[in-house]
Amino acid sequence: MATEKNMPQSKEQLNVVIVGHVDHGKSTLIGRLLADTNSLPEGKLEQVKATCKSNAKPFEYAFLLDALKDEQSQGITIDAARCFFKTKKRHYIIFDAPGHIEFLKNMVTGAAKAEAGLLLIDAKEGVQENSRRHGFLLSLLGVKQIVVVINKMDLVDYSETVYQSIKKEYEAFLRQINIKSVSFIPISAFQGDNLTETSTTMPWYTGPTVLSTIDSFEKEPEKKDKPFRFPVQDVYKFTQSEDDRRIVAGTIRTGEIKVGDEVVFYPSKKESRVKSVEAFNAPKKESVGAGDAIGFTLDTQLYIKPGELMCKKTESAAAPYSGTSFKANMFWLSKRPLLKGKRYQIKLACSREAVYLTDIINVMDASELSSVKNKQQVDRHDVAECVFQTLRPLAFDRASEYEFTGRFVIVDHFEIAGGGIITGAVEQEKSLIESYVESRNQAWHFSEIDIAKRMKRLQQKPKFVLLTGPAQSDKIEVAKALEKALFESGKSVYFLGISNKLNDFGADSSHGALDREDTIRRLGELAHFFTDSGLILISTLSDMDDTDAAMLKTITAPNEFLLINFSDSHFHRYPVDLSIDQPIETDAAVERIMVLLKEKSIISDYCI
Ligand code: GTP
Ligand code: MG
Repeated sequence: MATEKNMPQSKEQLNVVIVGHVDHGKSTLIGRLLADTNSLPEGKLEQVKATCKSNAKPFEYAFLLDALKDEQSQGITIDAARCFFKTKKRHYIIFDAPGHIEFLKNMVTGAAKAEAGLLLIDAKEGVQENSRRHGFLLSLLGVKQIVVVINKMDLVDYSETVYQSIKKEYEAFLRQINIKSVSFIPISAFQGDNLTETSTTMPWYTGPTVLSTIDSFEKEPEKKDKPFRFPVQDVYKFTQSEDDRRIVAGTIRTGEIKVGDEVVFYPSKKESRVKSVEAFNAPKKESVGAGDAIGFTLDTQLYIKPGELMCKKTESAAAPYSGTSFKANMFWLSKRPLLKGKRYQIKLACSREAVYLTDIINVMDASELSSVKNKQQVDRHDVAECVFQTLRPLAFDRASEYEFTGRFVIVDHFEIAGGGIITGAVEQEKSLIESYVESRNQAWHFSEIDIAKRMKRLQQKPKFVLLTGPAQSDKIEVAKALEKALFESGKSVYFLGISNKLNDFGADSSHGALDREDTIRRLGELAHFFTDSGLILISTLSDMDDTDAAMLKTITAPNEFLLINFSDSHFHRYPVDLSIDQPIETDAAVERIMVLLKEKSIISDYCI
């Protein structure tokens, strides 16, 4: 977040969001707060008042915000979404939430993080739809410190009765959504009553002013004290040709770490030790903590993908969840409804994965708090409690414990369509792939000719032989040569040369992960057909890892496949059938695979 010239870092800073129904006085309250805390440039108030007068227009505090938009050179910044003011105690960034959709988007994407909320209700209009919806959403997004401000008391003659009745109605609502101990303050933002100073107009009110209330809010505890969370944003190779070290880069979200600490990556559960801390354009450090954008080198050469979550081994009791399913509170922004069985993309911390909505527990109308039972889809502006499932395992936390790794957005058609917070992990009996394979097999019409008959005819065992390794390796050459050798020895074999475009998946391309899952699924299906028909199928896929291999194994089951890996092992748990170190002559590589095929009785000796 930008540091303003008038906001030295030494003082504490608190982010406050201001919400409320249209015209209930948000901009007026902010403008007046700026004026009354001397946060405006010299003469600004008078200047705006004079302009209004000369245009015969009534003065509005909201005009101050407009006028200040061009004032960046003077050290005060106001933009559409936020402005700054300070008290003796600390500095504030206040987010004006013009419409709840924008606000939600910002909150959920992390563009705006509010630690406290000011909720405005117009005394004359009373509790409106958005008054309830915003209260609910503040609680949903984990804003725990909320003050309800009943504004425009001047329009109801500063009546205690009006104030009490609105307070009673809204308190009853807050109880329903489990928000307790919220303070209420009667004010007139326009007149400045009970904003920064106690007003004499409402002697029946003896509580604090708005300003002293927000000054009494507590800052969230230091993130450095929490267990370590480092979402891997990128993995860089050192540029020098001889140097094959990799830097794992990202921003530390919570906790601290130092050189020598043992680390575990989730969900892969790969382990290593921090060898060095690589700061960008900064002096070398031994120890770093929450907020630092940093890189690490590791003791061992690990193949880590962006999106993994690096944690400390000593903190394994506070390990994140690693799984494919979670429960969440979420809301939907898109015109297209959220549907079961449709593939979406989830962005969670640095990971991007394919995700499916598998269960709708409850859909709620946020303003009335009435549940709509048995709803089969989540419509625009619905708030819902749902279960999501990903194809690949994901590392995540409960948002109530770790905000950054517990919050997500759902992308549909390249746009943020919704978002939410994770409330817990869900154990699923079957993975999505397993469910898919089960339904495929149920619908399958089995052939009269069984596999034993085919084996006898073709004099071979059907098998899918998959060659993997880095994109640059010679696996395609080897695959073709292997096909030729088998063909010439009388075997029924086919080399499936899937396009390199599908083979290559960029972690930074937003649909990379989805394309890759499609490729794996298609490859698995093809392998299933080919091997069912008795053939030997050969193909290649770059940079496979444990999850890819496990997915393929499920799709091709019950027919197994052979995995041949060229150099650099990306596999941590999955048992590779043959590892071939590079560089190697094509013929030599083919020879080694042929030996393996014989050992596995896929082809017999006499055939070669
Ligand atoms: P949106 O940004 O459109 O959602 O509105 P808002 O909540 O920012 O309301 P804004 O501050 O623009 O105020 C709306 C109108 O209410 C303006 O004409 C204000 O002058 C008036 N208003 C705000 N606070 C008070 C108040 O305490 N008393 C009176 N009498 N009018 C007020
Ligand atoms: Mg406004």
